[in-house]
Amino acid sequence: MTAEIVVVGSANLDLLVEVDQIPAVGETVMGGDLRRIPGGKGANQAVAAARLGRDVAIVGRLGADEGGEILRTALDADGIDTSRLLTTDDVPNGVALISVGSDGDNAIVVSPGANARVTPADVEAAAAALHGAAATLLQLEIPLDAVTAAAHAAHGTVILNPAPAPAEPLPADLLALVDVLVPNQTELATLAGFDGPINAETAASLAPSLPSQAVVVTLGAEGALVVEDGTATHVPAPTITPIDTTAAGDSFCGALADALVRGESLVDATRWAVRVGAATTQRPGAQPSLPTPTEVEQLLA
Ligand code: RIB
Repeated sequence: MTAEIVVVGSANLDLLVEVDQIPAVGETVMGGDLRRIPGGKGANQAVAAARLGRDVAIVGRLGADEGGEILRTALDADGIDTSRLLTTDDVPNGVALISVGSDGDNAIVVSPGANARVTPADVEAAAAALHGAAATLLQLEIPLDAVTAAAHAAHGTVILNPAPAPAEPLPADLLALVDVLVPNQTELATLAGFDGPINAETAASLAPSLPSQAVVVTLGAEGALVVEDGTATHVPAPTITPIDTTAAGDSFCGALADALVRGESLVDATRWAVRVGAATTQRPGAQPSLPTPTEVEQLLA
């Protein structure tokens, strides 16, 4: 069966420790018990869309180790097509070291491992799936040439979440292949070559300078800003107290793809994505926190 959504991206084993305060440079702090949780931006976005009811396939690479096995088992359990998720010998699986503070914020270091071995040839081998999918979801935890190959091969809506924030602006020809770019404020600043803090007003003025068709800027507790056809629409977020913001951006992207594939407008899809992202902050960890539609309503009630 052809997947409705294809994710080309990363899969990490998250090593998560809760701390009172995220340590400053040079500081050592004591935390809670270590938890090993399936994560990675690509895998999280795939699971987010699958839990919302979509048929999803993932293209990427796992390590030939326990981390890789944990990730494959988790993705299979969510009904995701993992037949194009290759296992790479002699390379560890991607790992993310995550500290979560008592305010729900986090600090993450990613060791990409097998994710760094994803190639344009891997993507080309998945061309039929990319050709048939209504949406393709991309992030930046795999090499840029593989991301670019996926954007070229995709025939449906191309959604790029430029995370983690790139060190420098992305090539204009890649951004021009993107239908919906989903940066946060930091990522937008980098992509637009802007030096300074970005509020919603600045975001609205910077987004049209990018060559993507539409830009949805995530604003954390402020919701999101949809910039499309010269119009900026602010979508507010529900008022909540976050427990753990890990994967909230990923569930936002998965939900956006879900709603666009169901035929919703970009603004309505963003309204849904803001709710799903907010609900994700109500439970700890990456993939365990990703909600079903029923859970979204329960978690925000
Ligand atoms: O966006 C959250 C994800 O970022 C985590 O699951 C971690 O693996 C890192 O990739």
